[in-house]
Amino acid sequence: MKTEKAKKDDLKSIVEIEKISFDHPWTEETLEESIDKTWAVKIENKIVAFIIYELIIDEIHIIHMAVHPDYRRKGIAKKMIEKALSEKAKVAFLEVRKENTPAQRLYESFGFKEISRRKKYYPDGADALVMQLVIE
Ligand SMILES: CC(C)(COP(=O)(O)OP(=O)(O)OC[C@H]1O[C@@H](n2cnc3c(N)ncnc32)[C@H](O)[C@@H]1OP(=O)(O)O)[C@@H](O)C(=O)NCCC(=O)NCCS
Repeated sequence: MKTEKAKKDDLKSIVEIEKISFDHPWTEETLEESIDKTWAVKIENKIVAFIIYELIIDEIHIIHMAVHPDYRRKGIAKKMIEKALSEKAKVAFLEVRKENTPAQRLYESFGFKEISRRKKYYPDGADALVMQLVIE
C-alpha cells in the first residue's frame, strides 16, 4: 500500500470511489479542482482510497476522504489521516455530517472533538459537526 500525490490520470478512479461512497457525491469538476490537494492510496497499483487536505499556515484542514467499500475497516482511512497530521501543523479541523457515525468514530479515535455545529451546511440541508484536534 502506498500513498501518493494524485494526478489528473487518477481522477476517473477517484470519481468512482466518490460516487459509490456518498449519497451526494462531489462532481468530477469539483474533484478535479481539488486534485492538487488530493492524495491517492494504491494497492497493487489500483486506487482504493483518497484524501483531500490542505495546510494553511499551521492548520491542517481535512476537506474530504473516502475508502472504496471493498477496502474498509482495514486501517486505510487511519493511515490517510496520519499522513495529513504528519504535516507541520498545530491544529487540525474538519467538518462531518451529523449522521456520519463511522467517520465521527474514526476522527474521535485520533482525539478530534466537536467544537461547533454548522446548521444546513450541506446542499441537501444536513447539519455538519466541526471537529478539531489540537496537535501541540
Ligand atoms: C469513514 C471511512 C473513510 C472510514 O474508512 P476505513 O478505511 O474503513 O477506516 P479505518 O479502517 O481506518 O478505521 C479506523 C477506525 O475508525 C472507526 N471506524 C471506521 N469505520 C467505522 C464504522 N463503520 N463504524 C464504526 N467505527 C468505524 C473505528 O474506530 C476504526 O477502528 P477499528 O476498525 O480498529 O475499530 C469509510 O467508511 C468511508 O469511506 N465512508 C464513506 C465516505 C465518508 O463518510 N467519508 C468521510 C467524510 S467526512
